[in-house]
Parts: sequence; C-alpha cells; structure tokens
Amino acid sequence: MKISVTTIPLRELDVDLLIVLVPEDGVEAALATFREVLDPVVARSAADVSGALESGVLLYPEQARARRLALVGMGPAAAVTAEHLRRASAAGVDFAEKVKAETVGLAVPEADLAGRLDAEVASQALVEGFMLAAYRFRRYKTEENAWAGPQRLVVHSAGEDKACRRGAERARILAESVYTARDLVNLSPHEKTPTLLARAIERSAKKYGYEADVWDKALIEQEGMGGLLAVNRGSTEPPTFTVMTWRPEQAVNDRPVVLVGKGVVFDTGGLSLKPTEGSMEFMKSDMAGAAAVVGVMEALARLELPLYVVGLIPATDNRPGENAYVPGEVVRMHSGKTVEVLNTDAEGRMILADALSYARTYRPELVIDLATLTGAAVVALGDVCAAVMTNEGEGASERLARMQAAGERSGERVHPLPMFEDYDRLLESPVADLKNIGGRAAGSITAAKFLEHFVAYPWIHLDIAGPSFLKEAKPYRPRGGTGFGVRLLVEFLRDYARPRKR
Ligand code: BES
Ligand code: MN
Ligand code: ZN
Repeated sequence: MKISVTTIPLRELDVDLLIVLVPEDGVEAALATFREVLDPVVARSAADVSGALESGVLLYPEQARARRLALVGMGPAAAVTAEHLRRASAAGVDFAEKVKAETVGLAVPEADLAGRLDAEVASQALVEGFMLAAYRFRRYKTEENAWAGPQRLVVHSAGEDKACRRGAERARILAESVYTARDLVNLSPHEKTPTLLARAIERSAKKYGYEADVWDKALIEQEGMGGLLAVNRGSTEPPTFTVMTWRPEQAVNDRPVVLVGKGVVFDTGGLSLKPTEGSMEFMKSDMAGAAAVVGVMEALARLELPLYVVGLIPATDNRPGENAYVPGEVVRMHSGKTVEVLNTDAEGRMILADALSYARTYRPELVIDLATLTGAAVVALGDVCAAVMTNEGEGASERLARMQAAGERSGERVHPLPMFEDYDRLLESPVADLKNIGGRAAGSITAAKFLEHFVAYPWIHLDIAGPSFLKEAKPYRPRGGTGFGVRLLVEFLRDYARPRKR
C-alpha cells in the first residue's frame, strides 16, 4: 500500500473513498468543519451519524472529488485515544472493502484532540489501524477475484503535514513489519520448517539491512544446546538457531538488548500428544514469538533506531517420532543444569532455556523473550493481552511499568503476574536440578520460574499464547496470526533508546 500525506483542500481529494472521523458528542461541529465536502443531500443524510466508536455511514457527495464519503465515529471527543483512532480507522476499511476502493483518503481530525494527541501520534494511529485492518492472507486462496485491498492511502492534514508524514511513515513500516510476522504465523507448517524459517530470516535481513547468522544442527550440538536437541529428536527436520544483529554506528548502548523468540514451528505435544480439536489444530502458531522478533528486527532496521539489539530464535518442531524425547528423561541443558522432563508438551521452555543461557555471552543490558508458552496464560487473560513477568530485584518494577506503558500506547497490552519465591519449590525434582512442569496451578508462572533458572541479567518474559493468534477477528486484528508483540516491542525499544521523563 502506498501512503502519502497532503494538505490540499478536502474537496479536491481525488479518491474512491474519503474517510472522515467524527466524535460522538460533537457531530454537528465536526461536520461543520467538513462543510466544503458536504453538499445539501449529504448534509441531510449525515444527520444519521451518531459518532459512536466504529459506527459509520456511507455517503455520496456531489461537490467533492471523492466518489464516496464514509463518516466514522470515534466516540466521545474527550476520551479519544490512539487506540480509538486505530479502531475507527479500521472501521473505515470495512467501507473500503464494501465498495472495493482502490484509493482511500483519510482525514486526520483537527480539533478536539489537540493537547492530548499530537498530529504525529494521531496520524500514526490512523494509518496503523487502516493498514492492520486491510491485511488479508491470500497465499492459499486460488480464487482471483478476492479484494486485494486499496493500492493507495492519502492522509489528509489541515496544516501539520510534517508531523503527519512522520507518523504515517512510521506506521507504514510498523504495519509492514506486523504483516511479516502475521504471514510467518499463517504459513502452513510444511513451508516453515526450521530450515525454511531460517532462510526467510536471511532474506529479511538482506532486504532490510540487519545481519542474520544461521546455525545448523552440527553447530547446535557443538554449542551443547541439549534442550533444543532433545525437543528436536522426534522430528525428521533438523533444528536451527538463528542469530540476528542490528548494531547501528550511532547506537546508544554498548551491551545489547537481546530478544528471544520461541520458534516451535509446529507443536504436536510430542509423546505427551495434544488432542487435535481445539488444541493441536492451532499449533502452527507456536512460532509466533519468533515471528514477532523477526518483525521487530525489520522495523528497527527500517526505522534506524539507534539501539544495539540482538535477536535469537531457537527453532524446531515438537513431534512424537521414533526417537522422540520421553517423559522421565533427564536432559543436560546448554547452561549445564539438568532437567527432568515430565511432559514433552512443555517444550517451549526447553528450547528457550538454551537461548536464554546462550544470551549471557553478550553480557546483555536486558533480555526480553516472547513465547506462546502456556495455555494457562490464555485461561488467565484470554486473547486480550499478554502476561508479563520479570525477575525480581533492582529495576524490576520500573521495567514492568515501562513495558505496560508501551502496551497502553501501542494497543498491544500486557498484564503482570507475580514471580514470588514461593513458586520455586513447584519445580523441584528428586532426580535432576529441576523438572520441566510445575503442575496445573499457576502454570504461566511456573513456566516463567523455569526460565528464570537460566537467566543472569535483567529479563522480561512475555507469554503471548493468548493474543498472538485469534480464532475470531478483533478490531484491526484478523483471525489467525496477529503479529502481536511487534508494535509493543518497537514502542518499548523506542522509549528505551530515548527515555522520556515520567
Ligand atoms: N504451545 C503450547 C502453549 C499454548 C497453548 C500456546 C495454547 C497457544 C495456545 C505449549 O508448548 C504447551 O503445550 N504448554 C503446555 C504446558 C504444560 C504441559 C505444562 C500447556 O500449556 O498445556
Ligand atoms: Mn507444547
Ligand atoms: Zn509449544
């Protein structure tokens, strides 16, 4: 989708569909600002506009060059946030689809928002909402006549075109990075074996100017990644471990921020096999953490964020093949610790532990992992937000607060779960240093507690099992892969590179 910003009079905007947002409590006043595009007939039909969030009407102006006009509500003016703008703009996509618009105009609301949302933030939110809602995964559709989405989006700004351009450009890069992550998640498992996933990352790195280094099985063995190798044993496809690096000259940090993404390209559960219905059938999404890390690396490179960031992706599938790892088995991990495997379906933590342990070699300032780690996170929080946890100690509450704030700004929200010491004993094993499951109670916390054994630096864990994959569409999130985590982490890292006063 091509994006441009213009300040020409609205009336002259030559598009198939012009989207104008109106607040719930100021419909009249808002419409007055758009009098130039509202001829008498349209003005009368506009009486049916309520301004309620995501509601809207489609009108046919005579005095404007736009073929159609959609008036879409953004809720009460005083309560409008970036998230309301994303949702309202996404509602505009429904109209664009209905009339198969090729070119769409999107007017940045002027009044009301000033002082709370600046033009840059508003324009970013509007373009994000529009592009994210216009995403379609059509790779496996053989019909040709499906809607391909608008080719061109013109953002209209009354005067602050520079700020709007910055916001729109950032939104485009972010949305395209989210598309990358969604595409990877939606890909059929046979097209994203660990080796094919690594190839896709190499292509992305080359295209956007960051580094990617792919380890093969021999190197993984040499490095002693016992957790990754154990999970991989039931598979016919070898594992990969991919190291991505974005180290710009003007980086503000010497020691990197390391991102780790769970890359289980398909999770059958292994010998502790999952039931198919409602469970295994969604497990192509078990690499959503990895997909998000790839999306983040693309965005960092394209936005030229002055931050040294490393991405690590341990990848394998989890299958019950002949040589599969078995319950009762003791595995020696990369760190040297031993793990008693009591459930082969708790495989994510096995491969993440090795990546987290390897991350120490960077002496990182901070490590953040993203993983579709536990069904318990879905039980606790649904698909509305991710669970966030951090190791206790210096800076812990500050880290959590910053991640939560990035969640509120980006609309990709997170909610904390406690990491009290009391949970530690649930992982004690009679035969090894620890066991890989802690029982049903506090399942997301014991999973994080397991990972904590392999961490020796400030660390944030994001369990994205809920929001990373949807069975039913949500505003600007389609069914299937959502790309959750890309915008959250870019927002977090932008703030991290240039901390603002709070
Ligand atoms: N990939 C799953 C977690 C998951 C569940 C992600 C639902 C997305 C939606 C993970 O590998 C898993 O199987 N976890 C087990 C852990 C248990 C055996 C301790 C779970 O949550 O049941
Ligand atoms: Mn599993
Ligand atoms: Zn899994």
